[in-house]
Amino acid sequence: MRLFIAINLNDDFKKALTGMQDDLRRQHVGGNYSPIENLHITLAFIGEYPDPEDVMDALAGIDFEPFDITLDGFGNFGDLFWGGLAKSEALSSLVKKIRHALADAGIPYDRKKFAPHITLLRKAKYKKFPELKTKKTSMKVTGASLMRSDFGKNGVRYTKVFTI
Ligand code: 2AM
Repeated sequence: MRLFIAINLNDDFKKALTGMQDDLRRQHVGGNYSPIENLHITLAFIGEYPDPEDVMDALAGIDFEPFDITLDGFGNFGDLFWGGLAKSEALSSLVKKIRHALADAGIPYDRKKFAPHITLLRKAKYKKFPELKTKKTSMKVTGASLMRSDFGKNGVRYTKVFTI
């Protein structure tokens, strides 16, 4: 099972992100746009792992406190374009707690430094690099979820397994 831990986004937040995608399309940026239902913030990427119960047990010990996040900024990792977040100590601290819990339980995950982003599109193609203003939008994060990722004929599909 391909697993990762993510924050799922509320409708207003997703609407702000699809607004950014619309803006990119208007600027003639092509590529694989993330469908609205796939927009999320990955906190830890586990990848192939046979036992989601192990991960649930590891996450169950985390004390989760709700906090706010704010959509702010636009950027890219090569041809992957993303919406960014305002700096948040609460978010960094949650990521640390999650990653420590995974490490303590011996569950492998991608150790790359956490770079909070929401993927808007992959394989971006453009003549002129786009310019985007973000409308600052905030939401309360009320949980983090263990997600599974499956590849189907209509692309990748994410399903919630468990929420802390
Ligand atoms: P991305 O959006 O920046 O590609 C499910 O694949 C989620 O896990 C995506 O949000 C993806 O981030 C993220 N992710 C983080 N590290 C990954 C890795 N090494 N391989 C695949 N996905 C990864």
